[in-house]
Amino acid sequence: MRPLAVVTGASAGLGAVFARQLTARGYDLVLTARRADRLNALATELGRNGAACQAVAADLSEDSGIEAVADVIQTRRPDLLVNNAGFGTKGRFHEADFAGQHTMHRVHVMATLRLTHAALGPMVERGSGGIINVSSVAGFARSPGNVSYCATKSWMNAFTEALVLEMRALQSPVRIQALCPGFTYTEFHDVMQVSRDRVPRTLWLDADFVVGESLRALDRGQWLVIPDWRYRWFVALITRLPARLRLAMQSRSPHSRA
Ligand SMILES: NC(=O)c1ccc[n+]([C@@H]2O[C@H](COP(=O)([O-])OP(=O)(O)OC[C@H]3O[C@@H](n4cnc5c(N)ncnc54)[C@H](OP(=O)(O)O)[C@@H]3O)[C@@H](O)[C@H]2O)c1
Repeated sequence: MRPLAVVTGASAGLGAVFARQLTARGYDLVLTARRADRLNALATELGRNGAACQAVAADLSEDSGIEAVADVIQTRRPDLLVNNAGFGTKGRFHEADFAGQHTMHRVHVMATLRLTHAALGPMVERGSGGIINVSSVAGFARSPGNVSYCATKSWMNAFTEALVLEMRALQSPVRIQALCPGFTYTEFHDVMQVSRDRVPRTLWLDADFVVGESLRALDRGQWLVIPDWRYRWFVALITRLPARLRLAMQSRSPHSRA
């Protein structure tokens, strides 16, 4: 029987690349995001390569959308869940529209929490499976103009690390991963309406590379994945600096000009 993966945010960017690479690895897929037309087109494309794909249009900022995807997970008991749906906002926290900040917490935090809970129990019970939480290097940093993004991705890292500890304590082979990319070419910055020119060209990662690194690391059982050595150096530095130096460095982040 072919393994099954559920990928959130599959209508674009990293999610669509996860779907394509997982199909090449022999997975069937549940694809979810808000844009049904995009999901259906991707399901048709992947179906030609032999994958059985179910498209589930759902808004993960709404309870009803989160529960609809949780129901599919509870029914179909996937081998892999990729919590990937996400977006960025710009502007200082106190000036930004509260609805956008609230929506971000619902998509990054509440949807990840609920869908992981729906998927993990059956995985532990049968002694196999994996969950990839698509976080960000921003989860290790804080930057002006990017408050909720850094905070929610930081939550994702803490949530993932604690689940890894629970799996180890149980001696469960279920694999949990936090994928923490740096700047990656997707639709993310178009949706956010932020120019890519503010970031040096050499720092941009290719989505295929990022997803490949994640899946190869999942094979090895590596829980924290930071694609590209420059971002690994950044995280090593930022997490070791004394607070005074860390704050000085972070105030120079590209997002501080958002
Ligand atoms: N690109 C980067 O530089 C970068 C760096 C680090 C981490 N990340 C993370 O990577 C993940 C994927 O982002 P991406 O770069 O691939 O961006 P993207 O190309 O804009 O794709 C974002 C995906 O999330 C879905 N999504 C957004 N809001 C949603 C909602 N309310 N309900 C359901 N689905 C929703 C979108 O689908 P619909 O619009 O159809 O709903 C889309 O499929 C995000 O978690 C992001 O934080 C990105």
